[in-house]
Amino acid sequence: MDLFSAIDTEPVRQRMNELAKELDRLNYEYYMNDRSLVSDEEFDRMMRELQDLERQYPELANPLSPTKRVGGEVNKSFRQVQHRFPMLSLGNTYSIEEIEEFEARTRKLLDGIPFSYTCELKYDGVAIGLTYRHGRLVQAVTRGNGQVGDDITTNAKTIPTIPLQLRGDYPDDFEARGEVVYPFDAFNAMNAQRETEGDEPFANPRNAASGSLKLQDSAECAKRKLMFCMYFMMAPDGVTLPDTHFGRLDYARQMGFKVQPYIQECRDIDEIKEFIDLWDKARWELPFGIDGIVIKVNQTPLWDRLGLTAKSPRWAIAYKFKAERVSTPLESISYQVGRTGVITPVANLQPVWLGGTTVKRATLVNADFIQKMGICKGDSLLIEKGGEIIPKVVGVDMEKRAEGAMPIQYIDRCPECGAVLVREEGEAGHYCPNSDGCHPQIIGRLEHFVSRKAMNIDTLGPERLELLYSAGLVRNVADLYDLKREQLIGLGTDATIQDKGADNLLAALEASKAVPFERVLFALGIRYVGEVGAKKLARYFGNMDALMAASEEELAQVEDVGEVTAKAVGEWFANEEHRAVVERLRAAGLQFSGQWSVTSGKLEGMTLVVSGTFEHFSREEIKADIESHGGKVSGSISSKTTYLVAGEKMGPEKQKKAEKLGVRIISEAEYMEMTR
Ligand code: IVH
Repeated sequence: MDLFSAIDTEPVRQRMNELAKELDRLNYEYYMNDRSLVSDEEFDRMMRELQDLERQYPELANPLSPTKRVGGEVNKSFRQVQHRFPMLSLGNTYSIEEIEEFEARTRKLLDGIPFSYTCELKYDGVAIGLTYRHGRLVQAVTRGNGQVGDDITTNAKTIPTIPLQLRGDYPDDFEARGEVVYPFDAFNAMNAQRETEGDEPFANPRNAASGSLKLQDSAECAKRKLMFCMYFMMAPDGVTLPDTHFGRLDYARQMGFKVQPYIQECRDIDEIKEFIDLWDKARWELPFGIDGIVIKVNQTPLWDRLGLTAKSPRWAIAYKFKAERVSTPLESISYQVGRTGVITPVANLQPVWLGGTTVKRATLVNADFIQKMGICKGDSLLIEKGGEIIPKVVGVDMEKRAEGAMPIQYIDRCPECGAVLVREEGEAGHYCPNSDGCHPQIIGRLEHFVSRKAMNIDTLGPERLELLYSAGLVRNVADLYDLKREQLIGLGTDATIQDKGADNLLAALEASKAVPFERVLFALGIRYVGEVGAKKLARYFGNMDALMAASEEELAQVEDVGEVTAKAVGEWFANEEHRAVVERLRAAGLQFSGQWSVTSGKLEGMTLVVSGTFEHFSREEIKADIESHGGKVSGSISSKTTYLVAGEKMGPEKQKKAEKLGVRIISEAEYMEMTR
């Protein structure tokens, strides 16, 4: 039987090899040489054919297949692995004098031996090490603490510039190191999408790259369009590599790595300085971020001779660019009102070119910030852009301060509705209390309610909401569910809503009644209750009535819900008008309770706290597991806690508190026994 099936599958195996080879070649040409040899459709067709065959014949699937670029495998948790060669960092400096000292010291230590330097870019991303054996990628690990890092192999395989199988001649066993960067274009597109979907945008490409490598779903990581810049190679004793750094990078390029061409051999400090000056200016023209340049001794046999200091090699140093800073006049301040009434002052600046973009506006955060910076009318502000994409106001340009300049008078009334602003004790910002009469708050709440992650009523964009509001039909979210067909038809200056539009809108509203409770809770727009908080609250209390009846202390028991959020939730539900809206939403038929997949009731009525890391679960998994057995998960230990499930490296504070309150501490094994 086996023999027959082996014969049967041979043509399939051949076809799979052929597809894999061709896809590898096309990927290489596309990502390494910027050459597109077939149409996207043709490429996708081949990829799908290979994916289908791998699904049908999993025993024939190659772990390094180009389908791994598309991802799909889910990372349960990221295994911690020991680095074979510690991942050292470099000494770094912002000062040219220290670069001069480094150069002089190196020359002195090498005492007349001829040598040169290589200068290359310091990529602003996440350092990883890739192990290759017999030309195949076997492991990808993050830097971690330099000794131990996270195994991110599955996600690394989705990065097209990381070769899975090397080409030509290669050492049998070595490690390639480099930086995973998030190119600006891809980063900006991803962030824009996050914003439309109501997710918090990433502050900079580095954080985004790091977050992407830790995604559980490798298919998501594949979508992130990360890039790997190779900069270093090392091998165990007995494996020979070229004897210059320059030569090694060249060798790596031939093996199929993406090695940036911006590398230069320099003979003396003047050439090094020239390279620094060049890139300090030209860096914004690159498609990805760099935060400095790295200078290395080119001749690798000299590395041993120069040796290491406590943390870093003596044969290399990094020069870091200072954050770019400009001074530009503050023309005016706008005050924005958010959906929760929070006021954000924004500086309108004389447009200025900074780090590759024109800056016209920058946040002034809140009244405290303006006061702390001592900003006066007519000032010029200092704006900086470092690794951050968003420019920051870092101070006042005192050289341009006019004599007798007057401090900014913060507004005391809402710029939109005129209500007297409130500033609560301990809060840095002001807010407008007129939540039901302040236009941007009303529209903002409606926009939030219908947004994708909330009720997902996509036929209701900002313009339509504005239309419904100005027609006097909708003042709050409950009004949406009272809309009638005849009220809608003919709305808008050019009667934009017609039969079909009205029907679609009513159908979308109807469909939203099936949206799960946790999202309904998120949609209410309670201050500090984000998507995660809403989910936790919904699961903890199970239904709206229990949530509404909860005291602030009970609310604060919920994991990830701190005192501030608990107070906001308590106050929100204490408000008569809010309760009236909630009752109308209930009457309209929205989901006010949830069923979560419960596999058993073994933890019914119990509240568990988890701490540390676990063998069988990631943190999120064990929490979900507790809930699936009917238990509640709490973030902090109190007298109501039933068990503290202690993983490895449990927090000492948690242990102490549990002991003090007499809460039983159980191990992961005991937990397993209890629930299985
Ligand atoms: S060489 C043993 N080259 O900057 C020396 N590092 O502290 C290995 N980096 O952690 C590092 N671009 O993550 C080197 N062209 C480059 C680099 C680079 C970025 C990172 C690396 C390291 C840090 C320096």
